[in-house]
Amino acid sequence: MSVGEYKPGLEGVPATQSNISYVDGLTGLLEYRGIRIEDLCKYSNFLETSFLLIFGELPTMTEFDSFRHEILHRRRIKYRIRDMIKCFPDQAHPMDALQACAVAMGMFYPLKRDLHSADYIYNAAIRLIAKIPTLVAAFHMMRQGNDPVPPRDELSYAANFLYMLNEVEPEPLAAHTFDVCLTLHAEHTVNASTFCALVTASTLNDPYVVLASAIGTLGGPLHGGANEEVMRMLEEIGSIENVKPYLDRKMANKEKIMGFGHRIYKVKDPRAPVLEELADKLFDRFGHDRYYDIAKEVERVATERLAEKGIYPNVDFYSGLVYKKLGIPTDLFTAIFAIARVPGWLAHWKEQLADNRLFRPTQVYTGLHGITYKSISDR
Ligand code: CMC
Repeated sequence: MSVGEYKPGLEGVPATQSNISYVDGLTGLLEYRGIRIEDLCKYSNFLETSFLLIFGELPTMTEFDSFRHEILHRRRIKYRIRDMIKCFPDQAHPMDALQACAVAMGMFYPLKRDLHSADYIYNAAIRLIAKIPTLVAAFHMMRQGNDPVPPRDELSYAANFLYMLNEVEPEPLAAHTFDVCLTLHAEHTVNASTFCALVTASTLNDPYVVLASAIGTLGGPLHGGANEEVMRMLEEIGSIENVKPYLDRKMANKEKIMGFGHRIYKVKDPRAPVLEELADKLFDRFGHDRYYDIAKEVERVATERLAEKGIYPNVDFYSGLVYKKLGIPTDLFTAIFAIARVPGWLAHWKEQLADNRLFRPTQVYTGLHGITYKSISDR
């Protein structure tokens, strides 16, 4: 392999073969198992979409009833995990807490080397989809000195998560909006965190460690962490009048505008209009606030300046705004992205196991050779 073949960030290098999702960055198309994301957001829901992603096809009524029932009834977490969360520092980032919890869960459900058993895969998927939101909500309650709010079996997946955050049952529009947000973020081909999941999966480690690896990778500000950064940017801008001077300053300093740009999409991210429409409905129902108006102005001004480079708002530009309106604290945004991405990561884990080969890329060595060792007294 010649030096010329090295691609920083592996940009454009296929890392795997997959039939889970498809992105066309030039036309702005995203499909899960061949179904357009817009249709899934309109006609499906997060749990049905999770089944589709992991098992490859939309479930029959019987399959869906049992999948949904299992998830809704397995949302509780072990008291020892609750005790462990109690020991985390209050100021810990929720993504770090979640990563630790995901690994800890694996200790309670040890791998018995039956990774290829359909039952093992099904049960691990159920458990992770069911419990990850409970872990996030429990950490959030406990860092404020409160007991965690136990899940309520009769509440939908989305409604129950919002309920566990503050013990208030959300309005149907809020729960529906949150469910669509989860669907939109459920899968997105081989991005950084999914690639990380694939690498860990290829070592045949257990799915809890696979997810913990992915959670660690998702947290960075260039990936899932961008939604938190968008909200902080809107707060920093503070007023519509400050939008132009703020963007001028950022661009003069060659700094990135958070929530804009994408390695793949060179047109508007297809998830962004879905979220934008939802945000409009949510703000109409629960009242406009200045962040919404500032966001609209940032979108207008930044698009005017960046569109010629193929840089448009991405999914994270609106997700933070929506989560804030749903009453979710900013530092939980990335953990919510993680909740949503669980089925995507699991689908890739399952696909990797079906035709596994240990990842072992090569490198382009740029160091020295044949250096003589110098003893410490001579250095
Ligand atoms: N604001 C201003 N300029 C930008 C931005 C931005 N957000 N993104 C890219 N550019 C410019 C960049 O300065 C460069 O310009 P020039 O050619 O004049 O030097 C050009 O566009 C190409 O930039 P790049 O960094 O090589 O592009 P990339 O493919 O590595 O960018 C990205 C992808 C997501 C890392 C980048 O757009 C970015 O940092 N965006 C802000 C963070 C963000 O919103 N991330 C969420 C991504 S979507 C969710 C996810 O996948 O996790």
